[in-house]
Amino acid sequence: MKAIAVFPGKPNSVHLAELPKPSVDDIPDGRGLLVKVLRVGVDGTDKEINAAEYGAAPDGYDFLVIGHESFGQVEAVGPKVTGLRPGDYVVATVRRPGSSIYDRIGTYDMTTDDTYFERGINLRHGFLTEYYVDDPEYIVKIPQGLKEVGVLLEPTTVVEKGIAQAYEIQRRLKVWRPQRAAVIGAGTIGLLATLVLRLRGLEVTTLARTRKPYLNSDLIEAIGARYESTSDVSILQAADKFGPFDIIFEASGFSPLAFESMEALGKNGVLALSSVTGGDRKIEVPADKINLEFVLGNKVMVGTVNANREYFELGVRDLAQAEAEYPGWLSRLLTHPVKGLENYAELFDKLTTAKGAIKVFCEVADL
Ligand code: BGC
Ligand code: ZN
Repeated sequence: MKAIAVFPGKPNSVHLAELPKPSVDDIPDGRGLLVKVLRVGVDGTDKEINAAEYGAAPDGYDFLVIGHESFGQVEAVGPKVTGLRPGDYVVATVRRPGSSIYDRIGTYDMTTDDTYFERGINLRHGFLTEYYVDDPEYIVKIPQGLKEVGVLLEPTTVVEKGIAQAYEIQRRLKVWRPQRAAVIGAGTIGLLATLVLRLRGLEVTTLARTRKPYLNSDLIEAIGARYESTSDVSILQAADKFGPFDIIFEASGFSPLAFESMEALGKNGVLALSSVTGGDRKIEVPADKINLEFVLGNKVMVGTVNANREYFELGVRDLAQAEAEYPGWLSRLLTHPVKGLENYAELFDKLTTAKGAIKVFCEVADL
């Protein structure tokens, strides 16, 4: 079967690889689940992997099959699999456990191991292929009514984890009634963070560089959030005008905004950082002021990466609520489909150059 792969360490090496079709017996103890891949989304991580900034091949291979935002349909199950049947729609989690205590209790997204395993990213093949097998522990069922937008679940889980962690941390306050939130960045993660915070009933201000109107600002306003361009309003000014912000979700991909967000966070507030910034940018910051206000304001900042099964299950519920509350909104994020694995060059071309792209994804097989 075909797969889209890269040679890690070699820039621009995306190519079509050939692999044997897996079978349920590849997973021990009758727990194999064979999934036919239908759609796979791509994002900045895939861009970085193809630029050789990131990613490693599994042991015994010189290539890595990429793709971590999957959506598929169960084709066959081993004798010990319960709860999932052929025909069910599913999404697979990305990270696989290492050996730390966090990995052993199912919270592999919190691993303290230096080496981590992520399907399609690091040391494990991904989902831009025709079929995959895995253990049901890592496979989450998607209701039939969400099949059009199921490919958005993985990016949604990144947001779910950040927001759930923020709420968990805020239990320190005994009574926390967040009212106003800011989201920094209006890419896929910023849009989904805006959505999830709106679904939690918060007043949301989303800030990104581009001036409105454009599709992303329209999408933000369509769910009752406010859109502001950082070209006109700084995060600090937005906090004055529309805050105080009880929660800020940073997803701009630009690390200086993390520091501006620290300054703009309200008293007792929580700041969740989700931007993966591979560079070595340096900036000057008002260190005394930020530190002082964090101390005097009892503020918290938390980093968040990846997501475990729990957040995938949460994400399914929020996607369903979103479809009920804002029908058709999620599918407007699916801006750039590319048909067929063989069109990998077009997939990457859209990912790197398409103007106005929100989600670029491969239609591996018909829904
Ligand atoms: C993925 C996460 C992953 C992270 C770091 C993101 O693009 O969506 O699942 O943990 O990259 O590799
Ligand atoms: Zn990703």
